[in-house]
Amino acid sequence: MNKKTGGLAEIVAGDTSISTVGKEGLDLTYRGYSIHDLAEQSTFEEVAYLLIYGALPNQTDLKKYKEKLISQRALPDALQVVLQAMPASTHPMDVLRTGCSMLGTLKPESSENEEHAVADRLIACVPSMLLYWYHFHKNGKKMNTDSDETTVAGYFLHCLHDKPPADEQRRAVDVSLILYAEHEFNASTFAARVTTSTESDFYSAIVSGIGTLRGPLHGGANEAAMKLISRFKTPDEAEKTVRNMLAHKDKIMGFGHRVYKISDPRSDIIKQWSETLSHHAKDGYLYAISERIQKLMWDEKHLFPNVDFYSATTYHFCGIPTDMFTPLFVMARLSGWSAHIIEQRKDNRLIRPDANYIGHAPRPYVPLIDRG
Ligand code: COA
Repeated sequence: MNKKTGGLAEIVAGDTSISTVGKEGLDLTYRGYSIHDLAEQSTFEEVAYLLIYGALPNQTDLKKYKEKLISQRALPDALQVVLQAMPASTHPMDVLRTGCSMLGTLKPESSENEEHAVADRLIACVPSMLLYWYHFHKNGKKMNTDSDETTVAGYFLHCLHDKPPADEQRRAVDVSLILYAEHEFNASTFAARVTTSTESDFYSAIVSGIGTLRGPLHGGANEAAMKLISRFKTPDEAEKTVRNMLAHKDKIMGFGHRVYKISDPRSDIIKQWSETLSHHAKDGYLYAISERIQKLMWDEKHLFPNVDFYSATTYHFCGIPTDMFTPLFVMARLSGWSAHIIEQRKDNRLIRPDANYIGHAPRPYVPLIDRG
């Protein structure tokens, strides 16, 4: 593979007005707003609205938007039946992939159910899908989707634990959803845009995004990072093992980035939340282990943590099961995917790149009978 252009590295594959990712002196911005301002002052619902509808909501818009999301949390009966039929051993990402696909058969995109409505419905009911499946298989309970919680973060945590979360946990998850909401032409968004470019439907594009996000080189890195961090009991033990892994050329999940070369602006923000929550959780060692791995990766490889590394312990300190980490990424990125699907449709051309052929030279066909 051509090391420079392989994996489409540094290839400009289209125009977007949704976000900038560390280009031309610009930090990570969503529709012109800095990620630092959004993570400090905004909520996930404001950010989702900004991405999908193109502008920050005023107070009335936000109130209506949140009411709309709350009103659409309920799951159609047929979807509940499908969630019940899925094995308890299903990976939660597969629950979401299948659940979104099923929803597309029950509430298909149409003139009454147009693209913005589909986006809103998905953001509203994907947390319900995951937690309905979880409680049905774990506790034998059919989860009630009615809740006083007014945000995606609060609703998710409250339904997961069946009690209201601490304020700092609610806000930590809210901030993580803001950080995960959008990231230009990352692999899953690009997959969603490729599907959209064939004039396929909204749900198909979202399902392409979910399938692409699942892998450990992309969204699955937060789960993989947690699995690594939780293997150790002390920072010294972590250092020894990770050093050994590097010597064997293993990849350490949650480090490095295709676009960022010095740091990921989201990492410092989520790291602060991980530290804050580590005090509340009375964590004895996980945060310290994470910091030791961070230092080693920088000293040895000049690699920095990306958003996934400290998201892992942030979620862990909120009592979230590790295999729900990437599904939380989906809950956030639904907003970015939706914005990109809508943008791709506005000025569409089929996405179909060329390939460099490295196969056999032309040769005569050999009939089956002559092949022995
Ligand atoms: N751990 C160890 N080494 C790493 C590494 C990591 N996390 N990330 C990159 N490297 C090394 C590679 O081994 C490679 O070394 P080499 O040139 O000696 O072969 C070099 O850095 C370039 O890596 P490469 O995988 O070619 O870069 P990329 O731009 O294709 O990949 C990522 C970017 C994100 C896929 C890559 O950094 C990675 O796999 N990170 C871990 C997964 C992850 O955290 N993904 C979430 C991204 S937000």
